[in-house]
Amino acid sequence: MTDLPPIPFHRPSITPAEEAAVIDVMRSGWLTTGRHTVEFEAATAAAVGTKHAVAVNSATAALHLALEAIGIGPDDEVIVPTYTFAASGEVVRYLGGRPRLADVDAATFNLTAEMAEAQLTARTKAVMVVHFGGLLADMAPIVEFASRHGLAVIEDAAHALPCSRDGRAAGAWGTAGALSFYATKTVTTGEGGMLVTDDDRIADRARIMRLHGISRDAWKRYMTGGSWYYEIEDVGFKYNLTDLAAAIGQVQLQRAEAMREARERVASWYARATSAAGMDELLELPAAPGPADIHSWHLYPVRLRGANAAERRAATIDALTADGIGTSVHFIPLHLHPYYRRTYGYQRDDLPVAAAQYEREISLPIWPDMPQSDVERVVASLRRALRG
Ligand SMILES: Cc1ncc(COP(=O)(O)O)c(C=O)c1O
Repeated sequence: MTDLPPIPFHRPSITPAEEAAVIDVMRSGWLTTGRHTVEFEAATAAAVGTKHAVAVNSATAALHLALEAIGIGPDDEVIVPTYTFAASGEVVRYLGGRPRLADVDAATFNLTAEMAEAQLTARTKAVMVVHFGGLLADMAPIVEFASRHGLAVIEDAAHALPCSRDGRAAGAWGTAGALSFYATKTVTTGEGGMLVTDDDRIADRARIMRLHGISRDAWKRYMTGGSWYYEIEDVGFKYNLTDLAAAIGQVQLQRAEAMREARERVASWYARATSAAGMDELLELPAAPGPADIHSWHLYPVRLRGANAAERRAATIDALTADGIGTSVHFIPLHLHPYYRRTYGYQRDDLPVAAAQYEREISLPIWPDMPQSDVERVVASLRRALRG
């Protein structure tokens, strides 16, 4: 145990500007979807470089709407990397489709074109890509593979704002992308998400389906000049974003690059501190971005080297917890979870790279305002735990 203050796994960076933005909305008399949401959409589309951005209340909603808009239905298959969060697979199930889980690259945890191709069947309609931790997956070969087989590409960019390669942002490579503004994400509104796309049809469909399937701009019903009249065009969802959240998002988006640079600095402190502590043979650090990459550094995933990593990983997390340090594990691959084992009969070694990486992974704290002294404390605690 320690008398030092705890180091959380994540702490959002909130300034007086976000606080003032929320107070303005609260005093405006209009709390839900409205002017701020529309402005936040425009700013996000400009930041990502897509024609459209459709604000919703989570990335899960954005993924669901994207798959719905491209017509995924029962018997359709979507290739999904197993190394991801529940959301990426469950949205396929919402529509009655089958997530066909794929293995990932050992260095980056990202899907590759080869791993995707290994899961291709006659029923495949789309491939989902997760930019793990905020490092862009190798998109050019994946897009080429998808277009060769007439598949849509859906980018789960929940970790990836800002993140780009050769100046092209995550979310702007595929048919549609989903951003997350969940509490721990690089740009946060507490809860929130955005569907980004160049496709007019997908954007139009998502705008209708995010609010009960009722006619476009239904959110204006109670605004001055809005109309009482609406038509239900389909059975939609309640996925709209509030202006309270959008106002926070507008400020966060303006600060996104500064917050990313701060995270990048924290990542560089980890690299320096672990190397100075002589931990190179104990720990594998996250894959370094290439010269054309902008890495969002949403996560700082390290992997234990050597034998019995799975048992040592549990003891290491316990030791860090005892020192007041928050950690996480990203991810327990989908194919290891009871639902996927039970429903599709997956075994550990069906997707062996993901299983082996998961067993030795620990995500260390990383957040924009994290001081260097906290990084040094985390590394010292890790060193004690690993050296025994
Ligand atoms: C890879 C990935 N996809 C999707 C999501 C879902 O995001 P949200 O909570 O905004 O629905 C998460 C959330 O952690 C995630 O890590």
